[in-house]
Amino acid sequence: MVHRDEILRELGLTPVWRRRALVAAEPVPATWVSNEPVDHPTPTAAIAPIDRLARIDTLDWTSFAPDVAACRACGLCQTRKQSVPGVGDIHADWLFVGEAPGAEEDARGEPFVGQAGRLLDNMLAALGMRRGENVYIANVLKCRPPGNRAPEPNEVESCRPYLDRQIALIQPKLIVALGKSAATTLLNVDATIASLRGRIHRYHGVALIVTYHPAYLLRNLPDKAKAWEDLCLARATVRKLQAEHDLQSASPTPSW
Ligand code: URA
Repeated sequence: MVHRDEILRELGLTPVWRRRALVAAEPVPATWVSNEPVDHPTPTAAIAPIDRLARIDTLDWTSFAPDVAACRACGLCQTRKQSVPGVGDIHADWLFVGEAPGAEEDARGEPFVGQAGRLLDNMLAALGMRRGENVYIANVLKCRPPGNRAPEPNEVESCRPYLDRQIALIQPKLIVALGKSAATTLLNVDATIASLRGRIHRYHGVALIVTYHPAYLLRNLPDKAKAWEDLCLARATVRKLQAEHDLQSASPTPSW
């Protein structure tokens, strides 16, 4: 059988030109383009923000960590090793909130496990407390920003619903905001730690105290004394709230 190309050649009609668009329609295999894994998740925050918020608002502890792990709401899902949802006593009176996981947290999936975390554990010990016992530890961001850069506003806003859900589930008596990033995010102000510490703020109705980030304290040892003042204020606040709660439970309002 004579091949079609041979006939065309005999007729002087070769080479056969094809329309460029049709040729280009064949996708280039992703593995030719780069060595990056080809199944990068696509950030989806812009697609269904309302559905997403409604879903996060109804998460329980069983579904919380898997939901965070599956989150594609910002670009950090493409660079993290794993998400770092939080750790501790889910009925804690105390919630400590840092900025974002660093390299060690990203590797281990737990917040504050590096050098700053060891100082945080010592701060807890000074209060007679331990990680996991009446204490929950979380970050504003659940995924590590590459190179430990500061969180971007869109990352904070994408992740905030998770922190809000944690607060709603834990119902802590007190939030301790560790460092400027956590404090200004939670209080929605642009202010220094110096101007925010020493008083009781509120976040979603929960008492909130601001203190220095442990990583800052590692570099600025004299400010440890101020951080200790903040922790003493925090302890006095939890005790006062507990006493008020005990009083209310001892003499409930009569139904008449
Ligand atoms: N710094 C933070 O803010 N959070 C961590 O989990 C670790 C370091």
